[in-house]
Amino acid sequence: MNSNASDQLHMSEVGSTPAFEPNQSYETAAVPRVSIAAFCETEAAYETLIKASSDRRMSKAHTSVNQGSLSECVALYENAPTPNLLIIETTLDGQALLRELDTLADVCDPGTRVMVIGQINDVELYRALMARGISEYLLGPIGIHQLIATISGFYAEPGAEPLGKTIAVIGAKGGCGASTIAHNLSWVISKRLETDVALADCDLPFGTAGLDFNQDPLQGMWEAVSAPERLDQTFLDRLLSKCNERLSFLAAPASLDKPYDFSEEHFDQLVETMRSSTPTVVLDLPHTWNAWVRHLLETVDIVIVVAEPDLANLRNAKNLVDALVQLRPNDIRPYLVLNKVTIPKRPEIKPDEFSKALDVQNLASIPFDPGLFGTASNNGQMIGEFDQKHAVGGLFEDMARVVTGRGEVGRKKQSALSSIFSKLKKSKA
Ligand SMILES: Nc1ncnc2c1ncn2[C@@H]1O[C@H](COP(=O)(O)OP(=O)(O)O)[C@@H](O)[C@H]1O
Ligand SMILES: [Mg+2]
Repeated sequence: MNSNASDQLHMSEVGSTPAFEPNQSYETAAVPRVSIAAFCETEAAYETLIKASSDRRMSKAHTSVNQGSLSECVALYENAPTPNLLIIETTLDGQALLRELDTLADVCDPGTRVMVIGQINDVELYRALMARGISEYLLGPIGIHQLIATISGFYAEPGAEPLGKTIAVIGAKGGCGASTIAHNLSWVISKRLETDVALADCDLPFGTAGLDFNQDPLQGMWEAVSAPERLDQTFLDRLLSKCNERLSFLAAPASLDKPYDFSEEHFDQLVETMRSSTPTVVLDLPHTWNAWVRHLLETVDIVIVVAEPDLANLRNAKNLVDALVQLRPNDIRPYLVLNKVTIPKRPEIKPDEFSKALDVQNLASIPFDPGLFGTASNNGQMIGEFDQKHAVGGLFEDMARVVTGRGEVGRKKQSALSSIFSKLKKSKA
């Protein structure tokens, strides 16, 4: 859970008249493509949330509104990924509320915000909630506009942490399957973790995202990068092609009528715009080493290096990892994905040896399976669409959980909130 938005709140907001009266008109930024789940105990709050969720400013968000208590919410998310924002409307008193939020902390994924709507007008309670990493406490009954403005404020406030996590996927060698991994990973995050993804095919001359998703869109990527100064949220929304409800992508022009030379920071505006509206941004990078590729690799949150288990891939992957660690010494080390493992008769480096030589975590060793990958690709399908039960699909799901930190099943999730709690418990002790 995230607490930074709460830093900018003032105590006086608790119990004071709502900042916005219902039906008062004012400018509120649209809520980005986040997933929101609300749990309401009172009929009035339920109705307000239902109405708010159909507001035009909430049209990009995926909102589910439930009649249920905080404990029912906790039970639901014990074995499921939590949405980007949880809204809990409760009639609990202060102590009971804090106790139940303790149990919610154990099931919340990192990055999930929690907003509470309560009936207790008490500054001490407000402080206790903020100290626990709750993003906002509103005193009910709440108005529709107040609700939308609060949600929008989480993402639009100046200085707010960028919404989107950026993941770059690059191959150690041409043809090792980097794009295949990037596309399947994006699909799995959208379908299995139910998180919105924006994918950019950065291989402008040869990219295959359009083919892989069986879509023949306009030249989204070219339009997006040809005039970065013109790129804003509205323009980007027009360029993104939808693969499913939660996955959109920018297709590469894949034409050779012009060269594609860009300056080092040419893609910055695009990446910033993408991450301000979508929780996960995946960049499918070409296998090249030029100024903008290197710069993107330097600036994203997570890098995945895809390699085949042979000597040339090992050398290149080692060079890539070394260069990246130098470029981003304070970031998490790149992850490895070994692909096309166990090609008959090919002498191969064992996955353990490969990852040990690079000192990186191997997210998955994906078998060489030309039947599976070839047919899925000919059909314009992802592995999980082509064969829902195939073990390779499970590998992509595990990979998605590690890189997003979401949806870990069967063990207590390490949310920001739970780590704040443990610190508080320790300092008490
Ligand atoms: N595990 C695999 N087994 C068999 N074929 C694969 C596998 N992974 C990818 N491929 C195939 O390899 C080819 C190159 O993949 P691609 O993702 O375009 O590589 P890159 O982006 O690294 O150049 C594609 O035809 C793809 O279907
Ligand atoms: Mg590629």
